Amino acid sequence: MELQKPRGTRDFLFEEMKERKFVENTMRKVFETYGYQEIKTPIFEDLSLFTLKSGEGIIEEIYHFQDKGGRDLALRPELTAPVARIYLNQLQKAPKPIKMYYFGSCFRYERPQAGRFRQFWQLGCELIGGKSPDCQAEIIALAAQCLEELNLEDYQIHLGNLGILRGILNQDGVSADQQDQIMAIVDKGDVEELKKLLKECKIGEKSGHILLELVGMQGPQKIIDDVKTIIKDYPDALESLKELEELLIILESFGFADYTVNLGIARGLDYYTGCVFEIYVEGLGAQKQISGGGTYNLIEVFGGDQVESAGFAFGFDRVMEALKNQNTKQPLKNRLEVFVAPISSETKLNAFEIAQKLRKKGIPTDVELVGRKLKKILSFADNSGARFVVLVGARDLENGEVTIKDMETGNQEQIPIERVADVLDNRINPSK
Ligand code: HAM
Repeated sequence: MELQKPRGTRDFLFEEMKERKFVENTMRKVFETYGYQEIKTPIFEDLSLFTLKSGEGIIEEIYHFQDKGGRDLALRPELTAPVARIYLNQLQKAPKPIKMYYFGSCFRYERPQAGRFRQFWQLGCELIGGKSPDCQAEIIALAAQCLEELNLEDYQIHLGNLGILRGILNQDGVSADQQDQIMAIVDKGDVEELKKLLKECKIGEKSGHILLELVGMQGPQKIIDDVKTIIKDYPDALESLKELEELLIILESFGFADYTVNLGIARGLDYYTGCVFEIYVEGLGAQKQISGGGTYNLIEVFGGDQVESAGFAFGFDRVMEALKNQNTKQPLKNRLEVFVAPISSETKLNAFEIAQKLRKKGIPTDVELVGRKLKKILSFADNSGARFVVLVGARDLENGEVTIKDMETGNQEQIPIERVADVLDNRINPSK
């Protein structure tokens, strides 16, 4: 029988896991530097959590099932809705703003391709109860700092505000459901489909033209003046544009000026309300979006008060891919420092004792568990990357000693057993 992993899933072996761990830890540190605290939510939730307001696109992609008790459950496709649920269940009375971050796997039944998986990881955050666009500016600065600390080059941050398109649609009396459909098509970037849908929604000719023009508009800050002229007859849309302008001013004080204004950002999920952003890395091809987020209103949709919220998530696998394409080498620490080798089977138990002493001192240590001859143990230890081998021989033991072999220089020296842990610790961590 051939055992295959499910389509769209991956296994990660040692080197890849080391790289992923390094990137994860680097990002975690940045999130914590900005005052975020980690939370964890279940991998599966009630299906209704995601069908309420996540949008048509994502509902089609949900892995859902009934458990033995007949409950409709879903593997989470994202983490914003679970975090909104936590807020409603446990945090409504907590002092605001509440800053939470998460790292976890998500599941979407999509056609697998480069950068698009059925199980993938998100590292993201939610900021509940703060004011937009100040919050938006802070999370954009946070996202950028993560990428800077990872030395990722050539990423572009695109900023928009959904209120501009929605303001025009509202003024033309387009229903909320139809608006969600329109936003989903804008997100896919399918202009022909968009033209068809605008006709079906009986949107006015002038508004239709304006919408088509806006979704193709992107560029530096100065395009805002052109947008202002185009939407001058739509007061709500103008209000949202003002919010976007304000965001750009605030971003300056967060030390940030490198962005593209992009009015075609619609986001694939239905809960966004105002400022939105996406980060792209061109080299990744069709799945170039490594991160996305914005302001949203899920808590009210779930029956809570109106609480302004903002957040974003990195597609962790895409960040890894972008770093790999760029050949960015992460400073990875070797797993193993010491290998303890009994010279004969009689010294096996002494070898175990010494290995335990080293491990208790925090020194990454391996010990022979296969009963091999010394020559084979040394070659295995060398391949494992051990810097030192502790040779445990009967004659040395009689003198209360072991031999330490430096695998780089080949030098060997005898050390009293009671000092072996201190001596190795000093060599491995000289600055301690
Ligand atoms: P999203 O844009 O659907 O937003 O997903 C966030 C990121 O996850 C995307 O930018 C992308 O990099 C990555 N991603 C999405 N689908 C896949 C996939 N099939 N394979 C690999 N990577 C993928 C959200 O999920 C929102 N909850 C983000 C957010 C947080 N908004 C506010 N707070």
